[in-house]
Amino acid sequence: SWLAVAGPRTVLLASPRSFCAGVERAIEIVLQTLQQRDTTVYVRKEIVHNKHVVNDLARRGARFVDELDEVPDGATVVFSAHGVSPAVRAEARDRGMEVIDGTCPLVTKVHSEARRFAGRGDTVVLIGHAGHEEVEGTMGEAPDAMVLVETVDDVLKLEIEDVSRVSVLTQTTLAMDETAEVADALRQRFPALRGSAAEDICYATTNRQESLRRLTVDADVVLVVGSVNSSNSQRLVDLADRQGVPAHLIDDVADLRPEWLAGAETVGLTAGASAPPELVFEVIAALGGLGPVEVRERRTVDETVHFGLPSALRTR
Ligand code: F3S
Repeated sequence: SWLAVAGPRTVLLASPRSFCAGVERAIEIVLQTLQQRDTTVYVRKEIVHNKHVVNDLARRGARFVDELDEVPDGATVVFSAHGVSPAVRAEARDRGMEVIDGTCPLVTKVHSEARRFAGRGDTVVLIGHAGHEEVEGTMGEAPDAMVLVETVDDVLKLEIEDVSRVSVLTQTTLAMDETAEVADALRQRFPALRGSAAEDICYATTNRQESLRRLTVDADVVLVVGSVNSSNSQRLVDLADRQGVPAHLIDDVADLRPEWLAGAETVGLTAGASAPPELVFEVIAALGGLGPVEVRERRTVDETVHFGLPSALRTR
């Protein structure tokens, strides 16, 4: 049976885990906008990539839409943490909308680099995942000057006219090790490459990957709390897999499958940057319901990053 472990099951709890400063800010922005505006509050795209967060805010009255064509002229609209392209900003402005911007400041930083690099005449190579909202927004800063690569293979296929003017940027939520490989390949093909790929991967992504990496040494199985469309959560699953530890992404305790825990004496547990912290404790409670557990938290670093709210919202 899956309870067949000798003695209590150990849960190694990764720390840092769950909400990052950008996600906390984006959620607070929606809550404050709902409270401070006497009108329907539209949110373009999932404010953060988490089912629980989105459902909770929708229950509180936020109206989630996919595109601005679902938002009436002049309405109040919140942009998600992943950022938007200048074209989306322009449409909102032209249609008289009030924009409250939930874009994470660390994504905004990558946008401004994209403008700066393209502005000096570079071809800007963005390392990222095709179709991800953050990538769409960033590429929108300089569509004619930017190219997207996902893999070393993509790098080998790149055709760039002026190899003396190439710079690199990345999505903020990539795997550190994979990105380093792609960036190395870029540097080999374009020795004059400017920009440091590693710097765009945000502190929260880095910290969550590092704390999980240390756990995997001792874990028989890893559980990552997060939604399937969450890039940084997916990267945590990949990381454990690459370390040779089976890993499973769960939205919440309802996704837990007993067979994953068969014979697992030590369970590694973490959560992506968009996953609410309480879901992790629900998982621990569920594990505890199946037999004795001993929880040990392993903290690799203290996070002290905090982002203020946009000036359009009164602060308390
Ligand atoms: Fe921002 Fe990084 Fe979180 S880019 S939204 S702090 S995962």
